[in-house]
Amino acid sequence: MRVLIFGASGLLGRAVMRAFADSHVTGTSFRRQRPGLIRVDATSRDTVWHALEQARPDVVVNCVGERHARVRAEEPARAHELNVSVAQFIAEATLAYGARLLHVSSDYVFDGIAPPYRPDSWCRPLGFYGRLKLLAEDTVRAVHPEVVILRLPVLYGPVEYAAESDITAIAQEVSSGRPVELDDACIRYPTHVDDAAQVCRRLATAQIQGRLVGTVHHWSAEHGFTNYQMGLLIARHFGFPPGHIKAGLEDLAGGDHPVDPRLDCSDLRTALGWRTEDDRTFANEVPHVVASWVRTTCT
Ligand SMILES: NC(=O)c1ccc[n+]([C@@H]2O[C@H](COP(=O)([O-])OP(=O)(O)OC[C@H]3O[C@@H](n4cnc5c(N)ncnc54)[C@H](OP(=O)(O)O)[C@@H]3O)[C@@H](O)[C@H]2O)c1
Repeated sequence: MRVLIFGASGLLGRAVMRAFADSHVTGTSFRRQRPGLIRVDATSRDTVWHALEQARPDVVVNCVGERHARVRAEEPARAHELNVSVAQFIAEATLAYGARLLHVSSDYVFDGIAPPYRPDSWCRPLGFYGRLKLLAEDTVRAVHPEVVILRLPVLYGPVEYAAESDITAIAQEVSSGRPVELDDACIRYPTHVDDAAQVCRRLATAQIQGRLVGTVHHWSAEHGFTNYQMGLLIARHFGFPPGHIKAGLEDLAGGDHPVDPRLDCSDLRTALGWRTEDDRTFANEVPHVVASWVRTTCT
């Protein structure tokens, strides 16, 4: 299987590269030039087509996106370009070269009012990011009739800088010892990137083998936590007195963030033969993931 991964330098893309390590895999990056990755500016349609021409993949995985709140707020046109236009260019080129396409989306396409959400549940994003992700889904579906869309919740895993995932950012905040308020209203389902990447691999394989039914698929860890609960869990694990961590009730809820966007993954779990016992659990994994970002001098 020849695989082309756009956004292979990112949090999810790096894990997807690891998951496809035994395949004929090509990964792209943009700013982060790394050995083994080719530089592609996917905002250029021609450059995307050139990457397909060179790689001639059986399957393309699109892990390009812009999900950082600062960019969304300060450069909305860029956020639109990276989430929607890039998805369109990749879908068009993938179709033209006769490859399959796996497109990554988000649980933020839901309003979080009536969980759990099935793949065919009605989408009603609350904020700009969710609207971009839904627009990207609609766009790739219109372009590539056989696209497979995988919706994921918040991801955690090995990061290159603390703010790369919300979970390492929380760990760094709680370990600073400074007063911190963390949202205690919105439930999130932190999912390990390596589990998400394995799901990408199995989905792509099933796609190639014609075993996959349906366009939209959901994947998520089972257990939900608020940011405050995650912060307490991390503080307890590293032995930080949690007195400086305050539960916030208004910083996320009522705004752009769904209160409980729990994804119903039962169809995909059955299709992939993946049991919940196979999941990495947040409580077990998060200490390893955040250890190097936590200041152990906190008292
Ligand atoms: N992380 C999460 O919690 C999460 C949760 C649900 C869904 N998702 C979705 O999963 C996908 C991947 O997210 P992520 O967290 O891995 O994002 P990320 O870490 O920010 O990585 C984004 C990737 O896009 C690449 N990129 C940026 N600008 C580009 C350009 N002009 N041309 C080509 N590539 C460009 C980046 O390359 P350089 O860094 O080399 O510039 C990087 O490889 C996104 O669609 C996101 O919405 C993420």
